[in-house]
Amino acid sequence: MSPDPTAATSTTAATSTTAATSTTSTTSTTAVAFPSRQPPGYEWLPDEPRFDPRIHLQIEPPTSVTSLREFGYPADQIEQTATDVAVSAPFRIMSDEGAAVLLESCRRLRGFARRAGNRIEHTVRGGCYRSRFLRDLCLSADVTRIMSEIYGTAVAPHTMPVHLGHLNYEPTDVHEAVDKWHHDTIPLDFVMMVSDPNQLPGGQFQYFVGTKGEVAELAARGERPPTDRVVAPHFPGPGSAIALHGNMVVHRGAPLTEQAERITMVNAYVALDRSRADQSRSRDLMGVDDESHLYTEWTRHTAWRGAGRLTGLVESLDFGLTREQAIEHLEWAIDDVQSALDDLRAGPREAEHYER
Ligand SMILES: [Fe+2]
Repeated sequence: MSPDPTAATSTTAATSTTAATSTTSTTSTTAVAFPSRQPPGYEWLPDEPRFDPRIHLQIEPPTSVTSLREFGYPADQIEQTATDVAVSAPFRIMSDEGAAVLLESCRRLRGFARRAGNRIEHTVRGGCYRSRFLRDLCLSADVTRIMSEIYGTAVAPHTMPVHLGHLNYEPTDVHEAVDKWHHDTIPLDFVMMVSDPNQLPGGQFQYFVGTKGEVAELAARGERPPTDRVVAPHFPGPGSAIALHGNMVVHRGAPLTEQAERITMVNAYVALDRSRADQSRSRDLMGVDDESHLYTEWTRHTAWRGAGRLTGLVESLDFGLTREQAIEHLEWAIDDVQSALDDLRAGPREAEHYER
């Protein structure tokens, strides 16, 4: 579960600033502070229990993790990503009492559910601007620490609050997948069972043991991931989760076999080491998330990425740069800013997934 060791021997511009861009202490659990004010139009749920980690958490680390290498990814792709971890075994995060409070809050948030693009029929985004319990759980330092341990690199709750506490609910049509085969718009996350997974008729969370490229080739032929390479992990109960390298592992919520309550929660994380790729695909959020906060969050995230890399240059560069190296360093440092500008100017597009 250690960070990719090849980064230290690479000769790219990125590598020369790797150490310096790991500017945040490994004990920090914050990248960008959660806003002190809610966006316009958002109200707190009244009368929620206050989140108390001593009462509501019962963290039991996973017994195993699987690596991206075991999924078939080559080293040159892995070294660009936040961690070589692909997925963990299911592990417990919530106590029984915490799981019960979370379920009740998510039931109350269901009234705000809506369609997210072409992938999910019923989802709540921005729930951490409505539920203090969900917000405090998703920002919990205890939960962040176990996620850092699992990933083998320091992480923080995602800089864009729209990616915190994402909720999926069962679709109206029982034959529809809860969420189609896809990889995430975020680098790292956990997927938590909010409703009781043992009461569900079908509707398992599933992931494909293979690469995004393999699933894209299958999709181009009109095929889905073969069942012998699909894993449906057993979740022991509500409040248990798996850690996921969401941007690299293709996964879905399978169809239910009969109508039932199915609620899952996805909480996203970013690696504090900004020398690796961003792995966030914010362009897919245009037309999905409220403009009242999306563009502010996206700009803050991009500024955080660029600031980390630029600060790394300030602190690490020594005499002797050539003109070409100067260009290479600066272009690398503002790469995420340039990409964000390109995406913002290009405008909305259909969210990527692997079902046609
Ligand atoms: Fe996902």
